[in-house]
Amino acid sequence: MQSEPKYSLTMRSLHWLVVLAVLIAVVAIEIMDFFPKGSAERAALFMVHQTAGLSVLALMVLRLLARVGTQAPPPVPGTPLVQLVARLTHGVLYVLMVGMPVLGLLALALAGKPIQPFGLNLTLALALDKSLAHLAKEIHESGATVVYIVVGLHAAAALWHEFILKDRLLRRMI
Ligand code: HEM
Ligand code: HEM
Repeated sequence: MQSEPKYSLTMRSLHWLVVLAVLIAVVAIEIMDFFPKGSAERAALFMVHQTAGLSVLALMVLRLLARVGTQAPPPVPGTPLVQLVARLTHGVLYVLMVGMPVLGLLALALAGKPIQPFGLNLTLALALDKSLAHLAKEIHESGATVVYIVVGLHAAAALWHEFILKDRLLRRMI
């Protein structure tokens, strides 16, 4: 019997590592607001946010290379419209997972603030531009809402396949 088509082990590992890193980035930044401005806890949580967010970027670079270098399984049967929506959603997720960390990075660097992955204190040699920094921060914050919506729809679709359609789609990514 032929085994079911799956994403490669590299693609599967990278998918769940990205999910984990996004979860850490989001939880860290959301609980940051419970602590007073200037507190050590706030600074530590912001460092965790940046570390996890920049890890998403690094993992996405590997993921894009892996995606180009390996064969994705053929799409599961579905109407052309459903297939199109799935492809579009995946495309939007790729754009968000690269765009969000880059915008976060720019929001800090263009304002002359340090970047602190893993507790380091790095300064990017970019010309200061407060209004561009502000714009990057605004888009980053609005982008976060889009991340919540698109990831929510994507996860709901995966669970719909698993529990309602029972077409074993989730197993392609496990
Ligand atoms: C996939 C990666 C990332 C996601 C999903 C993400 C998500 C978020 C979210 C949900 C917020 C809070 C938005 C709000 O309060 O309205 C935020 C704020 C922020 N993020 Fe990110 N972020 C990511 C990566 C990064 C990276 C890599 C950096 C910088 C190196 C960064 C810098 C910032 C900054 C400066 C803020 C504003 C914090 C404040 O002043 O309150 N983010 N991000
Ligand atoms: C931050 C969260 C997530 C991101 C950024 C993300 C991103 C992606 C992307 C870009 C793909 C397309 C892979 C490709 O063809 O190159 C994908 C596929 C997939 N994801 Fe996610 N995902 C996330 C969370 C989840 C969750 C929570 C689940 C399960 C509940 C899930 C289940 C799947 C499945 C089953 C596939 C394969 C779909 C297929 O075979 O057509 N993902 N994901």
